[in-house]
Amino acid sequence: MHSTKTFSSLLTPHASLLTEFSLHPATAADAPAIRSLVYAARINPTGLEWRRFVVACSPDGMVIGCGQAKPHRDGSRELASIVVAPAWRGNGVARVMIEHLIDINPGPLYLTCRARLEPFYEKFGFRTVGADEMTPYFRKLSRLARMVGFVGLGKERLLVMFRPG
Ligand SMILES: CC(C)(COP(=O)(O)OP(=O)(O)OC[C@H]1O[C@@H](n2cnc3c(N)ncnc32)[C@H](O)[C@@H]1OP(=O)(O)O)[C@@H](O)C(=O)NCCC(=O)NCCS
Repeated sequence: MHSTKTFSSLLTPHASLLTEFSLHPATAADAPAIRSLVYAARINPTGLEWRRFVVACSPDGMVIGCGQAKPHRDGSRELASIVVAPAWRGNGVARVMIEHLIDINPGPLYLTCRARLEPFYEKFGFRTVGADEMTPYFRKLSRLARMVGFVGLGKERLLVMFRPG
């Protein structure tokens, strides 16, 4: 199991203090906080198995971010459930979680996101793919999203992105 790491975020125009947070493999005790973050962000609430998660914590032990790599039956893996608590956004928390999840899950990774997050995930080597480059799970999901729209997406498109590893 990977160990705990502590990070100091970069100073941003919005932060006057150096903000520290740490990254841990999740435990069963983190499951309610993971669910709260994911539900509040209104992203896919399924498959929130805590054993796959990493969590970012504030110095007082609050879970301030989470993310996982989720396996699918067709053999693909998905970077998923990436959320940072609103008060902590813009401090590099997502960057540290995503880079760590990529490190411990070598090889190809997919993700789905709202179109507005494309530039964010491009920073980590993901690019948007068409149906011809998707595995059956993502092809089906993408077709469904086009047909019925997804809760919380409004008129925004759902993108499938891929990182070869
Ligand atoms: C998207 C989200 C995870 C970003 O978390 P964060 O901790 O604020 O991100 P970071 O501070 O680590 O930012 C990392 C980089 O991405 C950039 N970035 C952050 N949010 C961005 C956005 N919405 N669009 C484009 N770039 C963005 C930052 O400027 C930073 O760039 P740099 O490292 O080159 O300076 C956070 O806003 C969030 O939880 N949103 C709601 C849930 C959600 O939509 N999750 C994604 C599900 S697919």
